[in-house]
Amino acid sequence: EIIDGERVFHLSAQAGESELVPGVWFATMGFNGPHLGPTIRAARGEHVRIHVKNELTMATTAHWHGMSLPASQDGTAHQSISPETTWTAAWQIGQPAATLWYHPHPHGQTELQVSRGMAGLFLIDDDAPSGLPSQYGVDDIPLIIQDITVQSGGQRSGTPTTAPIGRIGNTVIANGTHEAHFVASTSLVRLRILNGSAARCYNLELSTGDTFHLVGTDGGLLPAPVPLTSLLLSPAERAEVLVTVSRDADLVLRSVPHDLGMSQADNAISGAGDTLGILRITRAGDASTAKLPASLASAAHPGRAAAVDRHFTLGDTTINGKAMDMSRIDTVIAANSTETWMIENASQRAHNFHIHGTQFVVNAVNGQSPAPQNRGWKDTIFIAPGSTAELTVPFGSFADPSTPYMYHCHMLWHEDQGMMAQYVLT
Ligand code: C2O
Ligand code: CU
Ligand code: CU
Repeated sequence: EIIDGERVFHLSAQAGESELVPGVWFATMGFNGPHLGPTIRAARGEHVRIHVKNELTMATTAHWHGMSLPASQDGTAHQSISPETTWTAAWQIGQPAATLWYHPHPHGQTELQVSRGMAGLFLIDDDAPSGLPSQYGVDDIPLIIQDITVQSGGQRSGTPTTAPIGRIGNTVIANGTHEAHFVASTSLVRLRILNGSAARCYNLELSTGDTFHLVGTDGGLLPAPVPLTSLLLSPAERAEVLVTVSRDADLVLRSVPHDLGMSQADNAISGAGDTLGILRITRAGDASTAKLPASLASAAHPGRAAAVDRHFTLGDTTINGKAMDMSRIDTVIAANSTETWMIENASQRAHNFHIHGTQFVVNAVNGQSPAPQNRGWKDTIFIAPGSTAELTVPFGSFADPSTPYMYHCHMLWHEDQGMMAQYVLT
């Protein structure tokens, strides 16, 4: 709804029970319902105003992951929403078309709230013609992947396995649905995939072994579709992919074994050896005209700077040897500057690294040109033990020396343990 030139949304954080697996009910949390949240959609240039009411019995927040906006509107623990109160965020959308998302960010409670289901997509549209399938729910499909734990005998579990990277569930749900099935009516389907899990990484492939095309990463579209047969997505990362669905298709998007760079035992307990079906796709109907576009509308990358401005070393649950302190500013950055950050994972654990308030470019992973999936705009990057990632990070214009943004590992148990730090723009 548009009021006084602003696009206005209402969210309310709620707790409830959801039958996430047939016959098995889970204690869940969501926005505007007991699990997950509505897709929010706004266009570049629009002013948005979002009212977030907390109907939980604990504090929460609403963070707009991937968004370029003032820190005071970012929805971190500094904008905590007490039970029975409402917080309002307002800003102007100033970035290109992308698949972003929103989730709570309360200090020390993020894993609990997100893994119970508090997450939704935040889609940004712009005028640049992409030629991509864009009928939401028809050929442009949101896909939020999460894992939950179901014990044998069909009981839910409150205590999933705690791996070195956090809690790993044994069962996958897609948009809150176990063994989800999508019946496509077109031959080309765009999936906007979010890894909404607390810790589990997914190595996505099609059960047919067919090629699919990556068209977008965290912060927007790529210059052109990139053919892939597998794609590793760590928590909070997004990928927009095109899947070709022939008339007699019956295929499964699934996660297959991968290497997180840890010891074999740690990889195994972290779920890296699992094969998990996520979404079955079949075809009915013939409403098809879409073709794979030859080029997309991506935003130009900043150039690579010569020198590294800052180094960050990831420990087991620390950044530069420190744990999160909400009253400590770790990094002071000039508004409108572009910096080069070197992130080194010096621990034995797999991590990823997310920066609030911006989208960055990955220059290099271990000194080499990054994998295709990391060549677009990113806000979260997987970093294996012993690996480095060099990032070019353009910072926004929202100077506010008293309100910090965060950077952190997005494996939520690590984040809750304090693997997070704060920067301000001045
Ligand atoms: Cu997805 Cu600090 O957040
Ligand atoms: Cu974020
Ligand atoms: Cu981590």
